[in-house]
Amino acid sequence: MTILVTGGAGYIGSHFVCLALSKGMKLVILDNFDNSSAQVLKAIADVTGVAPDFVEGDVRDKALLTRVMTEKQVESVVHFAGHKAVGESTQNPLKYYDNNVYGSVVLLQAMAECGVRKLVFSSSATVYGVPEFNPYTEDHRKKPFNPYGQSKSMVEDIMEDACRADPGLAMMALRYFNPIGAHPSGKLGEDPKGIPNNLMPYITKVAVGELKSLGVFGDDYDTVDGTGVRDYIHVMDLAEGHIRALEYLSAHSGYEAVNLGAGHGYSVLQVIQAFESVNGVAIPYDVKPRRDGDLAAYWADASKALRLLNWKTRLTIDDMVRDSWVWQSENPGGYGA
Ligand code: NAD
Ligand code: UFG
Repeated sequence: MTILVTGGAGYIGSHFVCLALSKGMKLVILDNFDNSSAQVLKAIADVTGVAPDFVEGDVRDKALLTRVMTEKQVESVVHFAGHKAVGESTQNPLKYYDNNVYGSVVLLQAMAECGVRKLVFSSSATVYGVPEFNPYTEDHRKKPFNPYGQSKSMVEDIMEDACRADPGLAMMALRYFNPIGAHPSGKLGEDPKGIPNNLMPYITKVAVGELKSLGVFGDDYDTVDGTGVRDYIHVMDLAEGHIRALEYLSAHSGYEAVNLGAGHGYSVLQVIQAFESVNGVAIPYDVKPRRDGDLAAYWADASKALRLLNWKTRLTIDDMVRDSWVWQSENPGGYGA
């Protein structure tokens, strides 16, 4: 039986694919290369020794989805495909509702037509919005404050309604905290187009000399050193969380939302310090004004993942900064180099 991995050529999807293939799982990737390239498939083959089964296409193409599900005997879906730039989502919300929400509805319709009942969905800690308390537990109220977060929250609600209507369905939304790091081989990692929005890819581009200095967005928050605190999670731990979610869904029906985070946070300055001391590379930085829409601090209550999935993070911040740097330094131009 096959797992359909939408968005499997992307940053998180490709790491999941490597892990799943290394465990002998059978899968097919569907990706339209909107934010990735065929080079990723070569890297996966290089790392695992298996050329992944791949279909180039869009999750909004229902005829294609039903054909793939039928021909490949798909039993479950891991749905990574979507757009993820928070800033862009405020400028172009319809792009986000179209790809993230409509794309997920088409996927659910195709699953219903083909009798595919299990779904793992890439959700985000962004669904919570301003923390009423820290750490976020899964029953913290959801109040996202940008269209990207709203799109994730809407898909969660749609999944929950679908499961309520059909008790045979088994679906899990995994709310990722801040994924960083790369495959330990150094052959796969995050390869954002243009100037990175996120902290770790910005740091590695400064380290490799492509960007001059990191802007630290605010040092006057009510945190340990005034800079923003996040719950960073190694992408390989995150990948393992998806394997556990699939195992859970093979034995349980219904809908669940589960945080995937370490359960503690690091400030921006602590991440910089870890990067410098583990890798022996200096990261020049300037303190800049706060970034619009940023929150001071949040991290996960990760106890539900332990209870339901027997999952917790194993890799440390030192592993994360080391693997991010190995990837960037060995592939200064990302997959294009
Ligand atoms: P990514 O952009 O690297 O990967 C997404 C992949 O989906 C890309 O390969 C892209 O080409 C593909 N894709 C996009 N739209 C598609 C469509 N309509 N049809 C087929 N393929 C399509 O992003 P990522 O960081 O790997 O994130 C994966 C998922 O996790 C996304 O849904 C994202 O919103 C979610 N997420 C990411 C983070 C993060 O910080 N990276 C945090 C929380 C949640
Ligand atoms: N930061 C800087 N300088 C930068 C980039 C980021 O100081 O150049 C700071 C931010 O202000 C924040 C921290 O580093 O305090 C982390 O910022 P990121 O942009 O790396 O991550 P966010 O927490 O803003 O958001 C990320 C993803 C979202 C996802 C969320 C889940 O971008 O898609 O994590 O927690 F939903």
